[in-house]
Order: sequence, then structure tokens, then C-alpha cells
Amino acid sequence: MKPEEIERMRDEALAAFAAAGDLDALQEAKVAHTGGTSPLALANREIGALPPHAKAAAGKLVGQARGAVNKALAGRQAELEAERDARVLVEEAVDVTLPYDRVPAGARHPLTTLSERIEDVFVAMGYEVAEGPEVEAEWFNFDALNIGPDHPARGEADTFFVRTASDSGSGGSGTESGVVLRTHTSPVQIRSLLERELPVYVICPGRVYRTDELDATHTPVFHQVELLAVDEGLTMADLKGTLDHMVQSLFGAGMKTRLRPNFFPFTEPSAEMDMLCYVCKGESVGNPDRPCRTCSSEGWIELGGCGMVNPKVLAACGVDPEKYSGFAFGFGIERMLMFRHNVEDMRDMVEGDVRFTRPFGMEI
Ligand code: DAH
Repeated sequence: MKPEEIERMRDEALAAFAAAGDLDALQEAKVAHTGGTSPLALANREIGALPPHAKAAAGKLVGQARGAVNKALAGRQAELEAERDARVLVEEAVDVTLPYDRVPAGARHPLTTLSERIEDVFVAMGYEVAEGPEVEAEWFNFDALNIGPDHPARGEADTFFVRTASDSGSGGSGTESGVVLRTHTSPVQIRSLLERELPVYVICPGRVYRTDELDATHTPVFHQVELLAVDEGLTMADLKGTLDHMVQSLFGAGMKTRLRPNFFPFTEPSAEMDMLCYVCKGESVGNPDRPCRTCSSEGWIELGGCGMVNPKVLAACGVDPEKYSGFAFGFGIERMLMFRHNVEDMRDMVEGDVRFTRPFGMEI
């Protein structure tokens, strides 16, 4: 057994380990140079057959060579593992600052959530949610509500006509009437009184239509909420208490409403209802040091119309006005959303851009 041979075997092994570029190649080199059939293993086996005097020297020679080979193998193994770990850290790194690329969560439209919140306030008081068609007979939209044929709101300047009374050949008499896109949710009052047993307590949310151009403060399609209560002995005090409760539920404790005389054909007496400005609570009035953008320092925000149901409306629905009385109110949801959330342009509410709706979240 020649020392040069053993050294050559050792050097070949060391060269093979150094040349192994990755852990797989090193594994092959390991099998070739340290495995059971590797030259050094075979040399080791041959030691047993040597004459006794030669065994010690040969054992030392081969043992040192194998020690050097194993050490080199372990060193290269550690090097290649460190390289692999460093590479994995780079290749498999997750950049948490990259834009989020999953399907983004949507959001419910704030008009829907606000409308549902209002409904909830009344459902909690025992009211029922009532709905009616958006394509409505003129009789429900106008006549039954005591809006006579000559009332200006009936004109084509405000109302989308689907079919006029003359189209239907009736000349506009009786319940044979034209068909319109409802201009308010008040016709649901009539439908509720005709369809339900008395007493009637309903809250009617819905979409309404008017021939306005879309701009920052108008939209031809918008939303209203209508309320109707008809029972024995209802008075304006009940209306006032109900309105106060609504604004307290929606805008917080201490809120209240005020009524200003007005006229609507379907209520008598009628009033315009204002709510206390929920931001300044009226403190901006006459106080230039504390101007309020929400109410333009008026202290009050106009909400909508209300009143005691006109006996003519009750009679048109077959309800005895001597026995029953009622109150009603109606207001626009877009307007409330605008001042409640500082929405400045009505177009943002109708364009369907998720950048508008998303900040309102998924509130159910
Ligand atoms: N329907 C009216 C409108 O569209 C609002 C309204 C006023 C509704 C007075 C009512 C009411 O129920 O009593 O402008």
C-alpha cells in the first residue's frame, strides 16, 4: 500500500467535495469517496490482509486520509447548507409591503345601511316595514293623497310618466289612471291602509323618481323613508315624540326636532321638520367664534315633511276619520347621508364606485 496512492485517493476526494456545487452533487461525491466501495474504503479493507508489521503504518496512513476526507466533507456540507439557507431566505421572502392582491372585500352601499338603521328604529317600536311598486298608478301617487289634477307636482316638469291617463283611454277618471314612476314613498301609505287591518304602523323605505338632472345636489333617482301611523286617538304630540325618538336613536342622546308650519295636500296640519344640529347642538347660532359647517350655523337641519294624515286621505282608503286619526312623515335618505357623513356630491352616491362605498365598510 503506497502512501502516494492513499494521498491521491484523499486528494481526489477533497477535490470532488470542493467541486460539488450543491448538496446533491456533494451527496454523489460522498458516496463515491466515502461509501463502502470507495477507494479509501477498499484500501481500509486491505489493511486486514497485510502482514502484521505493515498494519500499523498502513492503518495510520489510511486513517489519517479518511479523517481528512470526513472533515472536508463535513466542512463542505456546512458551507453548502449555509448557501442554500441564504438563498431560500432571498427566494422565498414575502414582501409584506406589496399591494394586497386577493379579491378585495366589498362594502354595502351606505344608503342601504342608513335606510336599514332607520327601519330598525321603528321595527323596535313595533312598526312593520311596508313596500310598494316603483312603477305606480297615478291614483296612488297623487289622487288618493289629495293631490288634485291641477297640482303643479303632477306636471311633466317633475314626474316621469310611463303612461298618461289619456293613453289608457279613461280620461283620467276614477281609479283608471295613468302610470308614473312614483315621485315619493307616500303612495305606500295608501297601499298600507287599503291592505292592512287597523291600526296601521308602517315604515316604508324605497326608491323614488323625479325629472331632475344629475348634479351635485340632485339626482333623478333617490330614496325616501315614509312613516305612517293610523290608530284611535293619535295626536300631533305622538308625531313629535316619535320624531324625537328617531333622531335620538340615529344621532344620540339630547337630540330633538322642531316643527315649522307648512302645507302638504295629504296632511292637515302639515309641518316641515327640522332636527337639532347633531354637531354643534345649536351652539353655533349667533356665535361667530364657533361656526358649524354641518348646519351652516343655523343650529337646525331640515329633515323633511310631516303632519296629521288628512281626513280626506283616510276616507279615500275607507278609514273612518271620525274614529281614527294618524300621523305621517317622509324624508330623503340621500340628504341625511350627506350631512351625516359630509358627502359633498350626490353623484358619488349613484356612480357605484367602490372607492366611495368601501370606507363605510360592511356594516350589516
Ligand atoms: N311626500 C313628501 C315629498 O315627497 C314628503 C312628505 C311630507 C311625506 C309630509 C309625508 C308627509 O308623509 O306627511 O316631499
